Amino acid sequence: MAHMFVTPNYICMGEGALGLSKDHMKKLGSKALIVTDASMIKLNNVKKLTDVLNEIEISYEIYSDVNCEPTNLMVEDGIKIYKEKGCDFLIGIGGGSPLDTMKAIAAVIGNGGDVCDYVGKPLTEPLPKTVSIPTTAGTGTEASRASVITNTRTNVKMLLHDPKLMTDLAIVDPVFTLTAPPSVTAATGIDALTHAIEAYISKKAFIMSDTYAISAIKRIFSNLYEAYTNGSNVYARNQMAVASLEAGISFTNSSVTLVHGMSRPIGALFHVPHGLSNAMLLCKCLEFVTPCIVDRLSNLSKEIGVYQVGMSDIDAAKAIVDATKSLCKSLNIQTLAEYGLNKEEFFEKIDKMATDAIASGSPGNTRVPPTKEDLISIYKSLWD
Ligand SMILES: NC(=O)c1ccc[n+]([C@@H]2O[C@H](COP(=O)([O-])OP(=O)(O)OC[C@H]3O[C@@H](n4cnc5c(N)ncnc54)[C@H](O)[C@@H]3O)[C@@H](O)[C@H]2O)c1
Ligand SMILES: [Fe+2]
Repeated sequence: MAHMFVTPNYICMGEGALGLSKDHMKKLGSKALIVTDASMIKLNNVKKLTDVLNEIEISYEIYSDVNCEPTNLMVEDGIKIYKEKGCDFLIGIGGGSPLDTMKAIAAVIGNGGDVCDYVGKPLTEPLPKTVSIPTTAGTGTEASRASVITNTRTNVKMLLHDPKLMTDLAIVDPVFTLTAPPSVTAATGIDALTHAIEAYISKKAFIMSDTYAISAIKRIFSNLYEAYTNGSNVYARNQMAVASLEAGISFTNSSVTLVHGMSRPIGALFHVPHGLSNAMLLCKCLEFVTPCIVDRLSNLSKEIGVYQVGMSDIDAAKAIVDATKSLCKSLNIQTLAEYGLNKEEFFEKIDKMATDAIASGSPGNTRVPPTKEDLISIYKSLWD
C-alpha cells in the first residue's frame, strides 16, 4: 500500500533557530500578523521575534488575546486585524493555542466564510504563508495539518484537518521553552508522548510515521522527567522540542486515536488543559486497547528498553503501559478530582462527551474501533 508523507516546507531547529530563519522569513511577506498570548509578551518572547523582524525590515501587527481555549471568536478578531492592517502573512508564537489560532485565521483568510464551516471540509483555496514558533514541547502543531478551535455556539472543540494547515516554516528553538513551568512541561510533554503512541498504534500507521513515533517516544522517556525537574537544562529542553516535532510529524501522517478523541470534550466542557486531560486518559485508554494491539505495544517495550528476556507477548505489551504509568506518576499528573472537577457534573456530561468524541472521528482510528459504551465506561473509570 502506498502512502503520502508530509512535513512543513522548512524546519529551522536548535538553539539560535530564530536568528537562522531570517533569510527565509524575508521571502514570506512584508507585513506579519503575530498571533500570541499575553504571557508571551510578558516573557519577552514576542520581543525576541519583533527584534528580528525589525532587523529584516518586516512590519507587523500583534494579536495577543488568545488564551488556553482558542475559539471561533478569537479567530474572527484576528482576521479583522489582518485585513484592516493590510497584513500579508502570519506568525504564531506560543503554545498550541496561539499556533492553532494563527493557522485557523490563515484558513479563513484564504477560503472565506466562518471557521466553523470547515470542520470535516477541505480548504480548497491557498492560505497566506504561515510561520509557527512553539514555546511548549508539546502539541506538535508546528508540524501538523490540524487546528483545534472551540465553537462557542456548540461547546465543541472542532478539529480542522487539511494539508494546507501545514505551516510553511517551523522555528523550533528550545530557548523559547526554558520558561515553561513544571506543570506545563509535564502536561505538554505527555501530550507529545500521546501523539507518538497514538500515531504508532493507529490503524493508519505506516513505516515513516512509525520511524518518527518511535524516535519521539524514546526521546520523551529519556528526557521529560529531566526537563520537568530541571527546566533550565537546555539539552533536555532541546530533546523534548525535537520529540514534540517528531511526534507532530508522526501523528499528522498517521492519526491520533482514542485518547485525543476523548480528551477534546473534557477540554471543551471542563476547561482541563489539553495535555493534562490526555495524561489523565492515556493509561486507561492503553489498558483498554492492549488486548487488540499486543504486537505493537510489545515492540514499543523493546524499543524503550522495558522488555525483559523471557516475557510473554502480553507481559511485554503491559510493560510499556506500566512504564507510561510510572512516568505520569513521576510528573505528578493530577486526577480529575485533584484538578477540582465535580464528579456529579462530570457524570451528567458523559453521554455528550462520548457522542462528541465518536463524532470527531479520532476513536475510529483505533485498530479495533471502540463503541460509545466503551467510551462511557472509560470516562467513568477516570474516577476509580
Ligand atoms: N493542531 C494540533 O495538531 C494540536 C495538537 C495537540 C494539541 N493542540 C491544541 O493545542 C492547545 C494546547 O496547547 P499547549 O498545550 O501548548 O498550551 P497553551 O498554548 O494553551 O499554553 C498553556 C499555558 O502555558 C503558557 N506557556 C506556553 N509556553 C510557555 C513558556 N515557554 N513559558 C511559560 N509559559 C508558557 C501559556 O501562556 C498558557 O498559559 C489545545 O487547544 C489543544 O487542543 C493542537
Ligand atoms: Fe494533543
